[in-house]
Amino acid sequence: MSPQQAKFTRFDESDSNDWQIIDDHFQSYRNGVTDRVLEHLLRLKGDNHGYPVDRYTHCLQTATRALRDGADEEMVVCALLHDIGDDLAPDNHADIAAGILEPFVDPLNTWMIRHHELFQGYHYRHFYGLDRHARDDFRDHPAYERTVYFCDQWDQVSFDPDYDTLPLEYFRPMLERVLSRTPFAAEPSG
Ligand SMILES: [Fe+2]
Ligand SMILES: [Fe+2]
Repeated sequence: MSPQQAKFTRFDESDSNDWQIIDDHFQSYRNGVTDRVLEHLLRLKGDNHGYPVDRYTHCLQTATRALRDGADEEMVVCALLHDIGDDLAPDNHADIAAGILEPFVDPLNTWMIRHHELFQGYHYRHFYGLDRHARDDFRDHPAYERTVYFCDQWDQVSFDPDYDTLPLEYFRPMLERVLSRTPFAAEPSG
């Protein structure tokens, strides 16, 4: 039997039964989000973009360093996904990870992910004639310190091919737990 599907061809001819069918599908589709996110992370394999490690290894290594530094699970997941948008949105890659995580994490962590490129730029913007201190415009923001720490301690140091980076499978249960939280339930930690 083919799966149930809505009868309409345009929304203004739909009824509540149609939307119940669609909602049922959405709930089961949502349950597969961890697999789809992990599949996308695998797409970063093999492309180094000129760096000493590929973007996949960089993501895993950033998460590994966060974990070994005692970061909580949510932060480790942020580290794991922070560059997942590299292939789809090269000019605003941070917005992709921020968008995936925003419904499930502390809003300050979403802010951190969204702004990590500028903060990370402290370590290279001057090589392009740009202000490496541009992140200091956000010095009074409640997520400033964590974003500096994220970049300085975990992100900018995670290009080492010889580092003992944990495999993706290690992080899967953490990602699953974060992405199965009630969406938009998190309050800012301040
Ligand atoms: Fe990045
Ligand atoms: Fe990164």
